[in-house]
Amino acid sequence: MQNNSAFYCPIHLIISPVCAGSLTVICYAIVIQQLHRKERMAQVPKIRLAGGLEICRILNGMWQVSGAHGPVDHPKAVQAMQAYIDAGLTTFDMADIYGPAEEIFGHFNSQCDAAPPLQGLTKWVPRPGPMDRKVVEKALQRSMSRMQVDSLDCVQFHWWDYSDNRYLHALGHLSDLQQDGLIRELALTNFDTQRLEEITDKGIGISSNQVQYSLIDQRPAAKMEAVCLSHGIQLLTYGTLAGGLLSERYLGKAEPTSRAELNTASLSKYKKVIDGWGGWGLFQELLVALDTVAQGHSCSIANVATRYVLDRPAVGGVIVGCRLGVAGAEHIKDSLRSCSPELELTAQDLRTIDSVLQRSRDLMSLIGDCGDEYRN
Ligand SMILES: NC(=O)c1ccc[n+]([C@@H]2O[C@H](COP(=O)([O-])OP(=O)(O)OC[C@H]3O[C@@H](n4cnc5c(N)ncnc54)[C@H](OP(=O)(O)O)[C@@H]3O)[C@@H](O)[C@H]2O)c1
Repeated sequence: MQNNSAFYCPIHLIISPVCAGSLTVICYAIVIQQLHRKERMAQVPKIRLAGGLEICRILNGMWQVSGAHGPVDHPKAVQAMQAYIDAGLTTFDMADIYGPAEEIFGHFNSQCDAAPPLQGLTKWVPRPGPMDRKVVEKALQRSMSRMQVDSLDCVQFHWWDYSDNRYLHALGHLSDLQQDGLIRELALTNFDTQRLEEITDKGIGISSNQVQYSLIDQRPAAKMEAVCLSHGIQLLTYGTLAGGLLSERYLGKAEPTSRAELNTASLSKYKKVIDGWGGWGLFQELLVALDTVAQGHSCSIANVATRYVLDRPAVGGVIVGCRLGVAGAEHIKDSLRSCSPELELTAQDLRTIDSVLQRSRDLMSLIGDCGDEYRN
């Protein structure tokens, strides 16, 4: 019998030698499976947020189960989460306004054992109105009850209208509730640089700001990145794959214009960004450049698009939308490749990409700073 303590199975002590033989095989299989799982999990690079929470550098985005990306099969979506966990992609991003997303997370969370631990990042997206402590507490309690947790790993706060400065009241209460242990990481989403500085100047500790950041939307590089770097704030990015437009699927394809073609909320959202950025013709040139780079690394266009953003200073993680439970919509292996340290973009790769990017319009002057698209 194996004496190595890692392989030792105490049940052998109380059963017959024949049973012991087959149980040894089962024990070996379980141990080896767990070792493989640990190995895969170790392969996913992680970062630690200011409050100590460790998250994966590729996060699983759950807007895709809100209903705005096609019908959602709740049980299938819950079941589909296991494959992400098994691959080591244990961090999920959701919001109080993403339909059943928090509940899907909660159902999975209540079913699975403690290991490996999941990280559930949610958002609070209130309608402007009074922001007293009771309002804030009620919102957090609702998310906690849906997610079936006793405290929240991370709350990312969104605000629609800066002319109403009650976002500062809300953040003050969120900060107090963080001190009380209800929230681990206090974070923002779609805040611009000016307000991020205003908030940190008031002594409110912010862990991350979730913003749109991709090859086609590089507004965070203008001002946001520098402020994040100086305050130890991580950027978590969305739109990095432009809803899937930044992939081989659209290389050499005619411009999608109809609702049938742009059939998810992401596709129609980011197609508009491409229109403002430079249009479909220039976008095709970008896809050709990305394909050249991708072929040089035997990887996908999505890998290059993700790696480019992951390598930006201040970017802690890239959120990749997952249509959980939809056949053919799982990109786990490819996501693992995107964050693998073996995928390194060279100076020549960056020149190839930049030769197209430099001909695009400046979205900062067209739209404004991060998140302004939600306020203008
Ligand atoms: N804070 C905010 O205001 C905000 C706004 C938008 C999104 N988000 C967050 O960001 C997440 C991502 O959403 P997004 O709208 O930005 O979408 P996205 O991640 O840019 O695109 C997701 C889509 O890309 C395709 N895809 C994923 N991996 C791929 C790969 N390796 N190769 C080819 N295609 C791939 C999939 O399409 P198929 O499913 O068709 O295969 C997937 O549905 C959301 O779930 C949400 O958590 C936040």
